[in-house]
Amino acid sequence: MAIEIDFSGKTVVVIGGTSGINRGIAECFAKHGAKVAVASRSQEKVDDTVQALKAFGGEAMGFSADVRDVDALKLGLATVFEAFGSFDVLVSGAAGNFPALAKDMSANAFKSVVDIDLLGTFHVAHAAYPHLTRPGASVVNISAPQAFLPMVAQAHVCAAKAGVDMVTRCLAMEWGPEGIRVNSIVPGPIDGTEGMKRLAPTPKIMEATRQSVPLKRLGGTQDVGSVCMFLSSPLASYVSGVVLPVDGGFSLAGASGLSSLMETMLMPSG
Ligand code: HXC
Ligand code: NAP
Repeated sequence: MAIEIDFSGKTVVVIGGTSGINRGIAECFAKHGAKVAVASRSQEKVDDTVQALKAFGGEAMGFSADVRDVDALKLGLATVFEAFGSFDVLVSGAAGNFPALAKDMSANAFKSVVDIDLLGTFHVAHAAYPHLTRPGASVVNISAPQAFLPMVAQAHVCAAKAGVDMVTRCLAMEWGPEGIRVNSIVPGPIDGTEGMKRLAPTPKIMEATRQSVPLKRLGGTQDVGSVCMFLSSPLASYVSGVVLPVDGGFSLAGASGLSSLMETMLMPSG
């Protein structure tokens, strides 16, 4: 059986799609024929991404919005709906992260990450809901291993991403009857990304992270993009409410290795 991934004529919206993993996802869909819209806070990053997406030959557009601002999201998404029609795929991946021990973190630091990752995910889904293709839409939330693996210096991210996965499961139940599927992807350590720069800032931590992956390599944005396309394709038409690691097996062994490296980095002995 020949398997063809083709999103020609489909509308794909990637929130937080202007760098790293999410931009890689947007590019995958653009390469496979989709009309792609991206959004993030920086208009400059939006413009740069839209230009790159158009170079694949299809239509692309974007708008700037902070996912903490639900009105800005509603406004931007309405312009996408007007130009590209209903959303066949919605990818929600805006997130913030920094390593900080709980005792050293202000209440506002913890809140900022919860506001961006968890409330932001809800805002995106809620604002996009009226525009989702029904039946048939695929919503993919970008989670992280922190959602189910406790990690030192990541209390804020662990709490927020655990919430993201529960939002995924609850929306899959509520929106399933309308033919809308909702899933989470959990990327492992992905090479060249802001997340890895922040969590593995030294060559030693980067190499230890790579060694902790059973496949013995960091992932690429293409690895995540491919699975996002699979989940949003007819091949996955009976898949909803799953939290799917795309991590080379990274999460199988827990995160104690990365945790102790971050502990050493943030709590130097003596
Ligand atoms: C302690 C910190 C801090 C740090 C910021 N804060 N950085 N606290 N350690 N390193 C505190 C600030 O002092 C402030 O609290 C509060 O957090 C909000 O900071 P702002 O800079 O005002 O917030 P804002 O401009 O909204 O920026 C949000 C951000 C920022 C999350 C802090 O880093 C950001 O925009 N990040 C987006 C890009 C990103 O993080 N990408 C990586 C995603 S990777 P006070 O009390 O002073 O007001 C990921 C998973 C990776 O999510 C998993 C890998 C395996
Ligand atoms: P990244 O390059 O920093 O991507 C984050 C994106 O979200 C950017 O486009 C950013 O653009 C946007 N964004 C951030 N805050 C926003 C806000 N408040 N409102 C709107 N947009 C916002 O990070 P990444 O490392 O590729 O991570 C991407 C996703 O993968 C995140 O959900 C992260 O949790 C997840 N993840 C990453 C890894 C990894 O190895 N990197 C591992 C597991 C999970 P602006 O700055 O313009 O807003």
